[in-house]
Amino acid sequence: MNTVTCIAPVNIAVIKYWGKRDEVLILPTNDSISATLDMDQLHAKTTVMISPDFKEDRIWLNDKEEDIKNARLQNCLKQIRKRSQLPSSINDWKIHICSKNNFPTAAGLASSAAGYACLTAALAKLYKIEGDISTVARSGSGSACRSTIGGFVRWYMGSDKCGTDSLAKQIVPASHWPQMRILVLVVSDEQKKVSSSIGMKRSMETSELLQHRIKHVPERVNKMQQAIIEKDFKNFAELTMKDSNQFHAVCLDSYPPCIYMNNISNSIINLVHSYNDAVNNVKVAYTYDAGPNATLYLLEKDVPAVIGVLDYFFPPNENDTIEYRRGLPIEGVEPSQDLLKKLNLQKHPPGQLKYMIYTKVGDGPKYIDNP
Ligand code: DP6
Repeated sequence: MNTVTCIAPVNIAVIKYWGKRDEVLILPTNDSISATLDMDQLHAKTTVMISPDFKEDRIWLNDKEEDIKNARLQNCLKQIRKRSQLPSSINDWKIHICSKNNFPTAAGLASSAAGYACLTAALAKLYKIEGDISTVARSGSGSACRSTIGGFVRWYMGSDKCGTDSLAKQIVPASHWPQMRILVLVVSDEQKKVSSSIGMKRSMETSELLQHRIKHVPERVNKMQQAIIEKDFKNFAELTMKDSNQFHAVCLDSYPPCIYMNNISNSIINLVHSYNDAVNNVKVAYTYDAGPNATLYLLEKDVPAVIGVLDYFFPPNENDTIEYRRGLPIEGVEPSQDLLKKLNLQKHPPGQLKYMIYTKVGDGPKYIDNP
């Protein structure tokens, strides 16, 4: 088989990776934990093909040819060709790679994670590689190692200088916590100004708070793993929000500061806390990657009420109909006057949220026969 097509999921960290101890090998300064998202709404799709007729290696991303000499890409290709089980005559054939996302690139939606996980999984099948592939995906983009596996996933920072033990492992499969839902609130789909790589380099060089964070994440990671295993939503949610807040505090503590969230992001944070206070329970958690878009974690039973509150305070544009809510089969429940009084928040003008993506925890990369 000379062609393989694969689709791979996005993952959203609940304990963030931020900081590298080795920039070339992409080795992190702490463990991180994420949920792999179902691929219905968000995925990367990659086809890889080798042929004796190809004159050179080439790559197309979202229909545009890109530089194959990109160092991270070359790192992945080198490792794969080294581990290849194909006869050496075929191993020398040149490769063409074609990859697409079904969502905006670089909008803080972990596009590079899905992209490199997909590329690695496709290459692994083409070159008949067995065993862990998360280390290969990691050398493309750190967070990509977590997208090579489904469910809740932990990326162990490892201690080996060569990075052999810096790999991702499943904590539990998606089926372990079937009630968990994810709502991505897209505030902006513009390209972020400071990439994660540049941002975390800046934090490593200038943030004192990051040094504090590095010491305390190990304890938090273990608590998070426990909360996931025990399906303890309250602890899961509180740890998720605290970690997101600390990560963005580190970004602000960097010099010059990396400001990823905007006023709408902050309003969503206020809304979540007000809502949890008003219902006297922790029903929703937010987390933000290196961008302004919010990812909310919540349980299925609470979705109608939360959608109702979001619709009330962030009303969609009148013409935002089917396109606005992606993957959401449930209608919101209008909040009661009593709840609105308790929330005591200002309504935003229509159209502040571009769209919502509703999804759940899902499986790892999948091969497809008829691309
Ligand atoms: C904020 O994996 O994109 O999303 O390793 O330099 O490619 P590189 O960075 P990347 O960083 C992701 C950072 C984050 C947190 C996370 O996903 O854990």
